[in-house]
Amino acid sequence: MENNHIQALNFAVYPEEQMLKRSQDFYDLMKLRRSVRQFSNRPIPAEIIENCIKTAGTAPSGANMQPWHFYIISDQKTKKQIRIEAEQIEAEFYSKPANQKWVDDIKALGTNFSKPFLEDAPCLIAVFSKTYDISPDGTRIKHYYVKQSVGIAVGFLIAAIHNAHLACLTYTPASMDFLNKILNCPENERPFMLIPVGYPAENCQVPNIKRKTFRQITGFF
Ligand SMILES: Cc1cc2nc3c(=O)[nH]c(=O)nc-3n(C[C@H](O)[C@H](O)[C@H](O)COP(=O)(O)O)c2cc1C
Repeated sequence: MENNHIQALNFAVYPEEQMLKRSQDFYDLMKLRRSVRQFSNRPIPAEIIENCIKTAGTAPSGANMQPWHFYIISDQKTKKQIRIEAEQIEAEFYSKPANQKWVDDIKALGTNFSKPFLEDAPCLIAVFSKTYDISPDGTRIKHYYVKQSVGIAVGFLIAAIHNAHLACLTYTPASMDFLNKILNCPENERPFMLIPVGYPAENCQVPNIKRKTFRQITGFF
């Protein structure tokens, strides 16, 4: 082995029966996850969000560059500012004739320009991808497969939020550059996703969507 490797995998081999049960249990947990667009304003413990972001930070990444940055936003004024900016972008999106096909495709979700969840949810997690890092001597450190890496980290984050028994939404307004301005982000950060997190509102409803079957999403050779 090359130097700078450690013997730390701590990989316990489980009986296959137990592995099967674990895989089934995890699937049973994850299949209950749904995107929530109506939130209660009930506060959530900061440590839960911290653990979920720590989980996201364990994701694999191109050349281990970990090209992500998470902002935890619980300040009411900042959330309001984000809502105002996002709703301007959304109003434009929904009214533009060029977006008609897209608007038709999301009709079943029942969404419109109005995004009260940006103020109602007790916490917004703004996820940024970092196109490069800056080393202490000021030189740029190149990042690889940035979108794929941050996408995986967000997947871990969403799974961790669901596992903590909280709800969230992967929210992506057509342009998110306003986030850089509001959060005063450095140049190398690009907005990737905005994730409201919290308890679903009482009587919260979700669209009645169908998931593709295993056969539909899988090929065999
Ligand atoms: C990359 C991505 C972007 C999304 N953007 C939005 C969005 O801007 N607004 C919204 O209401 N839902 C958004 N969603 C949520 C999807 O509509 C939702 O995941 C899909 O309808 C399936 O529903 P489910 O998450 O409840 O399984 C997004 C999901 C993903 C993965």
